[in-house]
Amino acid sequence: MYSQKVMECFMNPQNVGEIENADGVGTVGNPKCGDIMKIYLQIEDNIIRDAKFKTFGCGAAIATSAMLTQMIKGKSIEEAMKVTNKAVADALDGLPPVKMHCSCLAEEALKAALWNYAERNGITIEGLTPPANHHEEDHAAAAEEN
Ligand code: FES
Repeated sequence: MYSQKVMECFMNPQNVGEIENADGVGTVGNPKCGDIMKIYLQIEDNIIRDAKFKTFGCGAAIATSAMLTQMIKGKSIEEAMKVTNKAVADALDGLPPVKMHCSCLAEEALKAALWNYAERNGITIEGLTPPANHHEEDHAAAAEEN
């Protein structure tokens, strides 16, 4: 069901953990399954120097967050904005269709962290919209609605 790359990323995920004094932090939840993902970014001169994550979720969510953090390291904010959930899934040699929504969590967490960075610094990132639900309380509420 899962590609070799998904299994590798799941068994031996890179970039797990948190960044102390991160420049941007984003937390998102998947209201359907209740899984939660948190991404930490260290940004310097518009470049993502470091990225780490914590994911309380399924294997696909862990694999996609590990892959996403690897993909965005060293990229400018503008380049990172172009890393879609589809690009992450492709880099993992695909995900089973029922697991595609898990990869959305990674993209949303990245956007939420960038939003947090922009807010803290009073800047606007082109094409970035406020995260739909970037507080854990919201996830709980959303989960109840389902
Ligand atoms: Fe929840 Fe995959 S089942 S993120």
